[in-house]
Amino acid sequence: MKGRLLIVDDERSIRFALDGLFRKEGYEVETAESGEQALDKVRAGMFHVIITDLSMKGISGLDLLRAVRELDPACAVLMITAYGTQRIAVEAMKAGAEDYLPKPFDNDELRIKVRNVMEKQLLRRAYNKLVEQVNLDSGRFAGMIAKSRAMMRVFETIDKVAPTDVTVLIRGESGTGKELVARAIHARSARANRSFVAVNCASFARELVESELFGHEKGAFTGAVARREGKFEAADGGTLFLDEIGDMSLETEAKLLRAIQEKRFERVGGNQPLAVDVRIIAATNQDLEAMVAGGRFREDLYYRIKVVELRIPPLRERPEDIAPLAMHFLEEACKSFGTARKSLSPEAMRSCVANPWRGNVRSLRAAIEQAVILSAGNEITAEELLGGVGEQIPPRPEYSAPSSDGTPAELKFREAKERFVAQWERDFIIGALKATGGNISRAAERAGMYRQSFQQKMRELGISVAELGLKPDDDSAA
Ligand SMILES: Nc1ncnc2c1ncn2[C@@H]1O[C@H](COP(=O)(O)OP(=O)(O)OP(=O)(O)O)[C@@H](O)[C@H]1O
Ligand SMILES: [Mg+2]
Repeated sequence: MKGRLLIVDDERSIRFALDGLFRKEGYEVETAESGEQALDKVRAGMFHVIITDLSMKGISGLDLLRAVRELDPACAVLMITAYGTQRIAVEAMKAGAEDYLPKPFDNDELRIKVRNVMEKQLLRRAYNKLVEQVNLDSGRFAGMIAKSRAMMRVFETIDKVAPTDVTVLIRGESGTGKELVARAIHARSARANRSFVAVNCASFARELVESELFGHEKGAFTGAVARREGKFEAADGGTLFLDEIGDMSLETEAKLLRAIQEKRFERVGGNQPLAVDVRIIAATNQDLEAMVAGGRFREDLYYRIKVVELRIPPLRERPEDIAPLAMHFLEEACKSFGTARKSLSPEAMRSCVANPWRGNVRSLRAAIEQAVILSAGNEITAEELLGGVGEQIPPRPEYSAPSSDGTPAELKFREAKERFVAQWERDFIIGALKATGGNISRAAERAGMYRQSFQQKMRELGISVAELGLKPDDDSAA
């Protein structure tokens, strides 16, 4: 479905013209001759976009806009403004109109505008549906957003391992969501209402990692001025998440192995064994197998933590997740920064999905947050989204011939028109050449052009008779 559109104008000729224009575009179109009639239709069925005249008898465009915002906040409203109503147009924008177009409008401009808005609408509605689904099992997967088959399999594994006490090793590139998965396992386990304690094994010197894990007694080392409880104790009854487990020293690994196996340990500098009941989840983005082979990671610890292994694929291998994640982070960022609700331009969304996101979900999130703060308008452009984050802006997709009646939605009007015309010229010239078997003189004659101008056009458009697979006859060599 291309989308449902409602056209509201008290002028019959405009209703008629717009109805024809948008039906040809493939939308489902309805019209209303007054604000009252429009409201009845909105109550009776859903529309993605409403185009309404601003000044009408009875319910005005502005009143209609306000009523629609109540009835169906997700519906986008475009205002058509006649001369002298610009001031009200500003008011309409404040009241939540998507955009406005001064009368008399250019059909192409209106068509492209509607196409952009429609694209965003369909995306937003798809996203809202997804959020509803995700909210259904709210908390179940720590609020993770995902749509791809690959992540559904991750969720299935989480469901299977969560209720057991088995040790899980989570693997994946940086920023893929390893910690969220660990939290989801905890949240789905019988330990859910006890603590989830995370330790980053990479962030401290050896002594400090051990103190972090097991605690220490007063005076155990320089700076140990008081007894301190470690994360094993803090996690008693709950889950201990050992993040970046590949970054510990071999000595610490030995102590950790013993603590996991015997479920007991001593504080650093202490000799009284402490017993705890913790479930271990570990994560790493290192090649543990290579580390084991090279003697840089204990093999016994490796087998002990790798009882179940859960791999989170990088974002570029599950591009279906990118759009819903982007929409989610956009919504969150606008809320938390208190800015107006912003959206991604269709081109920004396409570039976003095509981007490799080497920093995975974390860098996607950072890029969106930065763009929300820095973007000039309410629509974030591809440059604003990808320009500042060191991620690459993929090249514009090659222009492909437009569908019989249109141009790609992401192009600005003038550019779109130029490309459209160029494509049309190509088709025309090639058509004429084919019809004459590659004879330029006759093709030019057929087209009502001078031979020279016809050849000039061919050069401009890079058309050669030989490349068309036509056998050039004598005159085309000129
Ligand atoms: N599926 C997801 N849905 C929503 N947010 C996500 C998802 N995956 C990751 N995130 C977010 O991306 C960021 C990185 O996630 P997380 O910290 O879990 O990744 P990580 O794999 O542990 O990264 P690192 O290896 O760098 O520690 C966090 O802000 C997290 O909330
Ligand atoms: Mg992490």
